[in-house]
Amino acid sequence: VGPTIALTPPMGFNDWYTWADRITQKDMLAAAKAMIDSGLADHGYEYVNVDDCWMVKPGSADPDLRGDSADPAAAIRPNRRFPDMKGLADSVHALGLKAGLYSSPGPLTCAGFAGSFGHEAADAAEFAAWGFDFLKYDWCSCEQVAVGPGLEKHQKPYRLMGELLAKQDRDIVLNLCQYGVADVWTWGASVGGQSWRTTGDLGLEPGSRLPGFYAIGLSNAKHAEHAGPGRWNDPDYILIGIVGDAGDFTRPPRKAPLTVEEQYSYMSLWCLMAAPLFYSGDVTRMDEQTLNVLGNDELIAIDQDELGRQARVVRRTDDELVLAKPLADGGLAVGLFNLSESERTVAASWPELGVDGARTIRDCWRRRDLGSSDARCESKLARHSVAVVRVPRGG
Ligand code: GLA
Repeated sequence: VGPTIALTPPMGFNDWYTWADRITQKDMLAAAKAMIDSGLADHGYEYVNVDDCWMVKPGSADPDLRGDSADPAAAIRPNRRFPDMKGLADSVHALGLKAGLYSSPGPLTCAGFAGSFGHEAADAAEFAAWGFDFLKYDWCSCEQVAVGPGLEKHQKPYRLMGELLAKQDRDIVLNLCQYGVADVWTWGASVGGQSWRTTGDLGLEPGSRLPGFYAIGLSNAKHAEHAGPGRWNDPDYILIGIVGDAGDFTRPPRKAPLTVEEQYSYMSLWCLMAAPLFYSGDVTRMDEQTLNVLGNDELIAIDQDELGRQARVVRRTDDELVLAKPLADGGLAVGLFNLSESERTVAASWPELGVDGARTIRDCWRRRDLGSSDARCESKLARHSVAVVRVPRGG
């Protein structure tokens, strides 16, 4: 049997980068409403996912019905900022959206809240009973308790949850948060995952000359052959608009330090890589620019293309990146990225792309037909800008 869920990359919102440990049930509901009111939901964003910090924190003053409990039948409990998890999922569903949550296969999450270790069956049943549709399962403290030779150490805790979720009477997407360790892209699907993080956290700190999303994207790009319907490489979230600071969560959310061109490049990279599209900025305070980037239906159609192929890297130099993603209609989506510090024309020739004959091409960001070409697509691009060109199949 082939995969049956997440046949196209999941899309939605995750609170982590903006709310972190301040998140409340009320914020999640406000985010869900904002997805509707802003129109984001109409573009296909549907999951409303709470990340870490919704559950009890062992050793804290929170009312704690499981906490350090050794009883495996005791399911995880929310903390006082989440008075009613079922109510949250119900409200999200009432808006026509889907609800997601987070746990760890270890005893503690990355932020020190209760994880599912030793309580997996009870937790899986509880998540389903509450009505959740997505679980991000984050390695964190599992490193200290997992045993097993080689890859088994990493696979076993995920396989356990994968099997438990598959037994519930609702579809629950499982996202493995494994930071690109242990080659998760080669086995994530075999343990029941539908997507897996291929890298560490994205953040906004400039890693080098280029903003951090390029390095994360280029690293994710290496695993193209492993992606397909129901099995997606996850390079972390989209951080544009107003976002928190992953390096220092005490700082209030601020405008992401990215140029407009870099924002287009970010979204283009993710869409060409068939990445899950999760916005992790402040969805209640999106300006027009942010919505235009997140809501370009031609780009989203490339991400969501039913063939489910991730773009291959056609060319990569210090100054240029060219990606090509095969599409279900037999055509290609080609990304031409200017990585350099000045204006530059980036081109991809038909032989490089495996295209032969004249094609009528279209620029998906500028929403312009570019006419027919029998040799190449090319674009004159500002610093860190991009063109995404659709090249249809030959006649
Ligand atoms: C890890 C993950 C992040 C986020 C935090 C929560 O760092 O990679 O995406 O879930 O944990 O603590």
